[in-house]
Amino acid sequence: MSDLRHRFPSDFLWGVATSSFQIEGATTQDGRGPSIWDTFCQQEGAIADHSDGAVACEHYTRWPEDLDLIASLGVPAYRFSVAWPRVLPQGTGRVEPKGLDFYERLVDGMLERGIKPWATLYHWDLPQALQDKGGWESRETVDAFVEYSRVVCERLGDRVEGWITHNEPWCASVLGHLNGEHAPGLKSQQAHLTSSHHLLLSHGRSIETIREVVGDRPVGITLNLVPSHPASESEADREAQARFDGFFNRWYLDPLAGRGYPEDMLRRYQDERYVDSWDFIKPGDLDEIAAPCDFLGINYYSRGIIRSDKVSEEDNEPVLITTQGEPTDMGWEVYPDGIRALLVRLHEEYGFGPLYITENGAAYSTGPDELGRVRDTLRRQYLEEHLKACHQAMEAGVPLAGYFAWSLMDNFEWAFGYEKRFGLVHVDYETQRRTPKDSALWYRDVIARGGVM
Ligand code: FCB
Repeated sequence: MSDLRHRFPSDFLWGVATSSFQIEGATTQDGRGPSIWDTFCQQEGAIADHSDGAVACEHYTRWPEDLDLIASLGVPAYRFSVAWPRVLPQGTGRVEPKGLDFYERLVDGMLERGIKPWATLYHWDLPQALQDKGGWESRETVDAFVEYSRVVCERLGDRVEGWITHNEPWCASVLGHLNGEHAPGLKSQQAHLTSSHHLLLSHGRSIETIREVVGDRPVGITLNLVPSHPASESEADREAQARFDGFFNRWYLDPLAGRGYPEDMLRRYQDERYVDSWDFIKPGDLDEIAAPCDFLGINYYSRGIIRSDKVSEEDNEPVLITTQGEPTDMGWEVYPDGIRALLVRLHEEYGFGPLYITENGAAYSTGPDELGRVRDTLRRQYLEEHLKACHQAMEAGVPLAGYFAWSLMDNFEWAFGYEKRFGLVHVDYETQRRTPKDSALWYRDVIARGGVM
């Protein structure tokens, strides 16, 4: 079609994404061990609507219907995650064959329907047994992750198309270990930096093992990145913005790119005595973290506008504000140009490539109208504007190879429970009925046409 202004290459990979804990349910079935999220959900006040993942979208039994949905929308690729405690209920040692069988059925089900499987190994559901031994604060979890990666790849490596080691180590380390908003609910600066280091190290160390088993199929990692702007031109705001970027983006990007941890952040953390000890970084770790990957996955939702909250020399915490532009139900500003700027930066400043958007989407609560139709116009607009911005980045030379919309269906949105809906497909949690929203049908047409107007 000639009227398509934003045409993507014919080999561009279109997909949808989910994660195990957010959709599967069946948390005690078939030998699955407890995960840190099962434990966390039981904590008073941890989840906004007091819910948990016990039922979720019942994907553990309804997966054939869910794969049919993906196929009916003509989506060529599906990014899912493997629940570590289904495969190794204690985190290491004994393998639970029923857990592996489930993922094998799922992957074979995708292949039967012509859907390309993209697997994430760690989307936050750490076996509780490992948390009991220190979780990501312990170096032993690094080796446990390598062992787990081998077990999964040995079973699925000949059929999964692309492998993602970790999803968003920033969230796992900051929300899980510094803010206490995610499992395991810790609030410790030492735990923040120790866990982020071990997450990155486990990524790097697993690369060789995964490659050994899966051959030349692409292996990479997914980061959540937030481009940011200072709220004003003041020195203090610019400094706060640089710190935000170091804390959020560069702390992960730089070591993965082989540059080590950013000097300015190391200096800041050292000056502030942010941690008691840096002993968790051992000689050789940074070389391991920088193991070459086949791609970088990016999850993009919004940007940050940063102003300094400087009240004294000692207290200079950057504050994130997002008051410009329309917010989604998460309160996140809709800012499509951020995805373009981010992609260009990753290409030009870091030379990363190929790049994949492994998540992008928006929470809006729009439900079915009296005729059962879900007119989620705002979500469609969000996706459309972000796809256009991705296309602009590609025109500027960025090697973007694919885009996965978050999410296939409404699901358990972590600390927000079931209150925030990101799905292209609506889920009625009473009946488990799935209804493709207008955005899903629009996405189907985008894929069929190969672009947006
Ligand atoms: C990302 C997570 C994903 C989902 C979206 C909204 O941080 O990777 O599981 O919760 O946010």
